[in-house]
Amino acid sequence: MPGRSAIGLDIGTSGVRAAELSYGRGGMTLEKFGQVALPEGAVRDGMVVDRPVVVGALKALWKGSGFRGKKVALGVANQQVVVRQVDLPWMRASELKASLPLQVQDYLPMAVADSVIDFHVTEEVNDGGPRLLRGLLVAASREMVMSNVAAVEAAGLRATSVDLTSFAVLRSIGKPHAAVATEALVDVGARISNLVIHSGGQPRFVRVLLSGGQDVTDAVAERLGVPTALAEGIKRGGPDELSEQESELVTSAVDLMLEVFVDDIRSSLDYYGASNPQFPVERIVLSGGGSLLAGVAERLEQVTRKPVVLGDPVAGLHIGRTGLDAAQLSAVQPLAAVPVGLALGVIS
Ligand SMILES: Nc1ncnc2c1ncn2[C@@H]1O[C@H](COP(=O)(O)OP(=O)(O)OP(=O)(O)O)[C@@H](O)[C@H]1O
Ligand SMILES: [Mg+2]
Repeated sequence: MPGRSAIGLDIGTSGVRAAELSYGRGGMTLEKFGQVALPEGAVRDGMVVDRPVVVGALKALWKGSGFRGKKVALGVANQQVVVRQVDLPWMRASELKASLPLQVQDYLPMAVADSVIDFHVTEEVNDGGPRLLRGLLVAASREMVMSNVAAVEAAGLRATSVDLTSFAVLRSIGKPHAAVATEALVDVGARISNLVIHSGGQPRFVRVLLSGGQDVTDAVAERLGVPTALAEGIKRGGPDELSEQESELVTSAVDLMLEVFVDDIRSSLDYYGASNPQFPVERIVLSGGGSLLAGVAERLEQVTRKPVVLGDPVAGLHIGRTGLDAAQLSAVQPLAAVPVGLALGVIS
């Protein structure tokens, strides 16, 4: 279908960002990418809490980046999102959609009526017993989704679909790889990290972790007794005028948080490995702003004893007139995984 396009919108703790893709004869093109930072507290745990601030940021994003449409695919990720492997009796896709709410209540901690639910089929089971659809059931609190949708609409945009952020990451950086059967993708955010284990693009395990780069910043701020904005700069490697004692405090704060984070990933990988010994994770692919922290990849490699690489969400895309030069494009690459993947969900 030549000439189709889609915009993916990621409302993160540290900023709003969007990517516009178009799909034509020559393949997929990244047409636009933009982001606008958010102040602390505007978005908490994946949920818009200060609507006017987020609306302002979205308007600025649209004004500044030249997106050609107002329809967006929105991502959701927070601790209350439930992702669970479930077997349902086999049925056609059309039936599945209609009967899903009736089928899944037993698997959810909240009422179906208060949730937005989706089912992602991973395989059809046909081993002599009843024919089944095995898949990942996804449920998010309606209130949380609606608060984000309301912000989007107040900014003059329209959310035409809502998708789990983890699936967006899977689409953008989880492409099938000749030499790797199963891998773990980890998008490290400010407060939320998404872990997806997949084989050739087929998700096997999804977990939303409540840790990310902001925990490191908070730890630095606390140790040094400085405001978060300053701690953020220090964490990223500057300024240089720290005393030796201050530098040591920073190093130990960063190390401690890294250890907690890496342990979180490791225990999720262990949990997955115990129930899926036939599909071992062969490597880890990172994305998200939090993956830029010096030492994350190395630590993860040491602790898990698996190779760790950086994901590339723009590999395989033509680059249109994004207004970004090569250096800017490579700088935003880790942040593009979610919005690019959300847009891919609409047009791929
Ligand atoms: N150069 C860098 N070095 C270290 N950390 C960085 C760097 N750039 C960004 N970060 C960290 O990345 C984190 C933000 O990542 P990202 O933008 O992916 O999160 P988000 O999507 O806004 O938040 P969330 O997904 O948690 O809602 C912040 O904690 C920030 O400190
Ligand atoms: Mg994020």
